[in-house]
Order: sequence, then structure tokens, then C-alpha cells
Amino acid sequence: VFARAGYQTHLYDRDPAQVEKAVQWLAEDLELDRQAGLLSADQTTALRSRVTVHDELGEALAGAGYVQESGPEQLDLKQSLYAELDRAADPSTILGSSTSALDMTEIAAGLPGARRCIVAHPVNPPHVIPAVEVLPGKQTDPAVVERTCTFLASVGQKPVRMNFYVHGFLLNRMQAALIREAVHLAESGVAEVDAIDAVIRDGIGLRWALMGPFGCANTNADGGVREYFTRYRQAYLNLMNGLGPTPSFDPALIEQLGEATDAMVNNAPRAEIRRWRDKMVTKIRALKKENPGL
Ligand SMILES: NC(=O)c1ccc[n+]([C@@H]2O[C@H](COP(=O)([O-])OP(=O)(O)OC[C@H]3O[C@@H](n4cnc5c(N)ncnc54)[C@H](O)[C@@H]3O)[C@@H](O)[C@H]2O)c1
Repeated sequence: VFARAGYQTHLYDRDPAQVEKAVQWLAEDLELDRQAGLLSADQTTALRSRVTVHDELGEALAGAGYVQESGPEQLDLKQSLYAELDRAADPSTILGSSTSALDMTEIAAGLPGARRCIVAHPVNPPHVIPAVEVLPGKQTDPAVVERTCTFLASVGQKPVRMNFYVHGFLLNRMQAALIREAVHLAESGVAEVDAIDAVIRDGIGLRWALMGPFGCANTNADGGVREYFTRYRQAYLNLMNGLGPTPSFDPALIEQLGEATDAMVNNAPRAEIRRWRDKMVTKIRALKKENPGL
């Protein structure tokens, strides 16, 4: 994302094998983009040359205006990583974290540079999906929130601001609500895995690429959200109060879901499915850009 936007991008991981893998993946992905006509050979070479590998953290941080920390999702590890980053990075450098669920107030607690620490949670794969959840810790300077959002927008991402921390942020809470019910329905045998996916894939998911739950509700009744939520108030309350319990996710259930999903995709190689998914999402984004709506 950063190199594509023209920035010199420094990679550092304390395990050199991981950086090797990242660089190899980048080269392969760029080659596929070139073959698909998404990038010219010159663009591919230029983009690749903007990404450099560093075996010292201090060297990777030299001259950086923004850091995207993507270490393991564990509070104590993030805390020591942030202490290291805060010591080594220029005081003006923003320290953004990819954390999916941790609180920046806790990660940066007691650090002299806590004001420049912020969560910037990307969605996989970030070079294809633009949303990034941005949320401050209690010590984060509001100017850092502004600068982070401006920077992320400038590299083609869509910063989504949150006012304060809640476990799982926005995206994963909503994803968890849906997955919980999907697994419950599959576990209780109401429908097959393919049918459960189909109501999203060939049903409401088609709208969701364009609008969120409130945007959809707004178009579902002539009177918009007010009419929709008034008319269906009781129906939704009945449904919500009757949703299934949190599923067990026990090994036998996971195996059963795995077998049904493998059959649904005809055992197609996952790398191929991912590539198709990324290509289609890129097309949907292009279509949305051409037709920005209201
Ligand atoms: N995987 C996803 O789909 C996804 C999506 C959005 C956000 N995230 C978040 O991104 C972060 C990374 O996720 P992941 O799945 O890639 O985790 P991971 O555990 O696979 O990778 C973490 C990497 O950090 C490296 N590392 C550990 N300690 C380090 C240190 N002190 N200095 C430098 N590097 C160090 C490890 O070698 C490893 O390569 C997490 O906070 C996660 O919540 C992940």
C-alpha cells in the first residue's frame, strides 16, 4: 500500500525468514498484477525498488514518518515492541498499530511518546481492501488522529474513525455477530454450509458491497431508516432475542464445517480462490469509483 503510493517502505521483522517471505510474496503478487495488466513492467519494478529490507530496527525507522507495527497480537509483546519503537523512532514519527483487538491506552501506557501512538487496524488483504479502523488511546494527541487519517487517505486507504476503544473494534464485532449465527445455524442443521453462505454471497452481500446496515435500511422502506426500524421493530426484536447461543467451536464441529466448505469450493486450491477474490474485489472497487452513488 505504502510503496504503491510512492513511499520508500522499510521492512523489518526480528525473524529474517519472515521478511524473505514477504519480499518473495510481493514479487510474485506484482508479477501477477503485471500479467493481469493492472501494472506496467516499469511500475512493477519501481514499486518493488521502493521496498527495502533492514536487519536493524533503528535502520528501518530512519527517516520514517509513519510506522505500521504488525507484531504478534499479545499485549505484553506489543508493549515491549512499542517501548522499543518509542525509544528508537524520531519523536514526530506516528506509531500506528495493526492490532485487531488490543487497546492503545494499555499498549502505550507510561511511554514518553504515548501521544504519537495510535491503532490503525487494516483489513486483510490491505492492498485490496481499503478500510482501516483508526482509534486513539486515551493519551493519543488528537492531531495524531488527524495526521494518521490524512496519511492513510493519501495512500488510497479509507480511514474509519472510532471515538473510543471497544473490544474487537467495529469490523470484527459485526463479523463475529454474523459468524456466530452462521455457525449456530450450521451446527443445528437448519441448512447446509453452502446455503448459509449463499444468502450472503447471492443475497444481502451484494448490497453490502455498496452500503452498510444503516444505508441498506434507508433504502428498504420509502420512509428510510425511521420507517424501516419502526415497521420492523417488533420483528427484529423477536429475531434478535431468539438468535442462537455462542457456538462451541469444538474440534468435531470445526472438522464438519471444514469438510462442508471444501465440498462447497470443489476442493479448489485456496491460493487460486484468494487470487480470484482479490481480482473481483479490485473490479468491484473500480466499479464503485466509476459510480460513486449518493
Ligand atoms: N492476520 C490478519 O488477518 C490480520 C488482519 C488485521 C490485523 N492483524 C494484526 O496484525 C498483527 C500481526 O498479525 P499476523 O497475523 O501477521 O501475526 P503473526 O504472529 O503471524 O506475525 C507477527 C510477526 O511479528 C514478528 N515479531 C515478533 N516480535 C517482534 C519484534 N520484537 N520485532 C519485530 N518483529 C517481531 C514475528 O516474527 C512475526 O513475523 C496483529 O496485531 C494482528 O492482530 C492481522
